[in-house]
Amino acid sequence: MEKKPAEFAILKIGEKEIRLPLVIGTQGERGIDISSLRRDTGLVTIDPGLGNTAACYSQISYVDGEKGILRYRGIPIEVLVKKVKFIDVAYLLVHGELPGADERKKFSEMLNLNSMMHEDMRHFFDHFPQGSHPMHILSTMINAMAAFYPNVDIKSMADNIDTSCARLISIIRTMAAFAYKKSIGEPVVYPRHDLSYCANFLNMMFDSPVRPYHIHPEAVRLLNVLFILHAEHEQNCSTTAVRAIGSAQVNLYATISAGISALSGPLHGGANQAVIEMLRMIHEDGDVDKFIRMARDKNSPFRLMGFGHRVYKTYDPRAEIVRNECDAYLTLINHKDPLLDTARRVEEAARKDSYFVERNLYPNVDFYTGILYRALGIPENMFTVMFALARLPGWVAHWKEMIGDSTKIIRPRQIYIGRNEIFEHEIENRNNPQII
Ligand code: CMC
Repeated sequence: MEKKPAEFAILKIGEKEIRLPLVIGTQGERGIDISSLRRDTGLVTIDPGLGNTAACYSQISYVDGEKGILRYRGIPIEVLVKKVKFIDVAYLLVHGELPGADERKKFSEMLNLNSMMHEDMRHFFDHFPQGSHPMHILSTMINAMAAFYPNVDIKSMADNIDTSCARLISIIRTMAAFAYKKSIGEPVVYPRHDLSYCANFLNMMFDSPVRPYHIHPEAVRLLNVLFILHAEHEQNCSTTAVRAIGSAQVNLYATISAGISALSGPLHGGANQAVIEMLRMIHEDGDVDKFIRMARDKNSPFRLMGFGHRVYKTYDPRAEIVRNECDAYLTLINHKDPLLDTARRVEEAARKDSYFVERNLYPNVDFYTGILYRALGIPENMFTVMFALARLPGWVAHWKEMIGDSTKIIRPRQIYIGRNEIFEHEIENRNNPQII
C-alpha cells in the first residue's frame, strides 16, 4: 500500500474544517482514512451494508468490479485455472507465493497426514436428524474440532499455521464426504494417500463397496477449476464474518465455523443451490418471461438467483469461466441437462431486459456452477458445501493476515434511533412490565 499523506480530503462541519488523509492502494483505489474522525469531531460515519467502507488493508486478492477482474496474490484467475491445481492456490493464498516443488511435496504430505478426522468425531454424524442440511452439519463439526485438537489458542495456531491450515483444508473434505455418505445411508469411505486432493474427495463421495468409483481425470480437472474459482473473494460476507470473529481472538476452528454459517445464506454461497431450485421451477413452468417480470416486480419477493453482485457491475469473470466449462464438460461427457438450456434462456432474456441492464445485473459465479455440480453427480444440498471446501484457504489466509496485523477487535459504532430514557417513576405510573 502506498500512503500519500500529502493528499487530504477536507471535511467541513459548520465552521470547523478537518483534513482527512487519502490512502491509495497498489491498483490506484483511493480511500479516505477516517480513523481519527470521531476523536477530532465526535462524529461517526454510517454505511449500512458497508458498501463504501474498506474495513482493512489486504494483499490477498484484488477485485475490479467495473472491469471484471479477479486476481489472487496478483495472478489472474484465468491463468490459475489453466496452470495450477487447487492445492497450489490454497498454498498461494495462505503463504503468498505459489509453492515450489519441495514446498508442494511437503504441503501434500501434510494434507495427507491430516486427512483423517479424530475417530470419535465420526460418531457425531449418527446423531444428526435424517435430512439435516450438510452445511449445518459441517459448521457444527468444524466448531467441534477445538474440543478434539489441543492448543487452539491463537498464538499456537498462528505459530503452526502450516499444520492448522493443512488440517482444516484436509479434514473439511473428509467431513463433507462423510456427511453425504451418512445422509444416503452408505458406509463412509476413508481418504487415500495415493490420490490428489480433488480425486480423493470424489472417491470419498462416490466409491461404494458394491459400486467401485472410476475417477475420471476430466472430473478431477473440472473440480480443481471450480474450487480455484471459489477459493477467495476479498471482503465478502463470510470472510468479513471470519475477520470479525477472529478479531476477538476466538480459536481458528470456531472462526471458520462462523464463516461456514455466513456462507450458507441464500444471498451468499447458498445461492448455488437456490439457482438450481429456481431453474427447475422455470423449466417446469416453461415461461421464462413470467419469471423475469416477477424479478422486476418490487411487490414480489422473487429475485433472479445467481444474478447481481455487490461488487461486479459487469460479467463476473468466474461466471464466464464456469459458463464455458458447462459447454465443454457436458459435451465431453455427452450429457444433456435441460436446466442448462433454461439457464441460457434466462440469461438471454435478463440481458435484454432494461431492469437488469440499468442495474448492471449479470450472472454471478453461482448461476452456472450448479449445472456442473449436477454433471459431476453432486447432490443439490451439497452445492454450498462445495463452496465452503473451496473457500476455506481464503478464510484461513484472511485470518492469518488479520492476526499478523494485530488488528483491534472489530467493534463498529451505531446511530441510536430508539426511545429516549424512560425514568423509574414513569414505569411505575404506566404499570406496564413489558416496557422494561
Ligand atoms: N434479481 C432482481 N433484482 C435484483 C437482483 C436479482 N438477483 N439483484 C439485485 N437486484 C436489484 C435490487 O432489487 C435493487 O433494485 P433497486 O435499485 O430498484 O432497489 C438493485 O438491483 C441493486 O441491488 P441490491 O440488492 O441493492 O444489491 P446488493 O449489492 O445489496 O446485493 C446481491 C447483491 C448479490 C445480494 C443481490 O444481487 C442478490 O440478491 N442476488 C441474488 C442472490 C445471489 O445470486 N447471490 C450470490 C452472490 S455471488 C456469490 C456469493 O457472494 O456468494
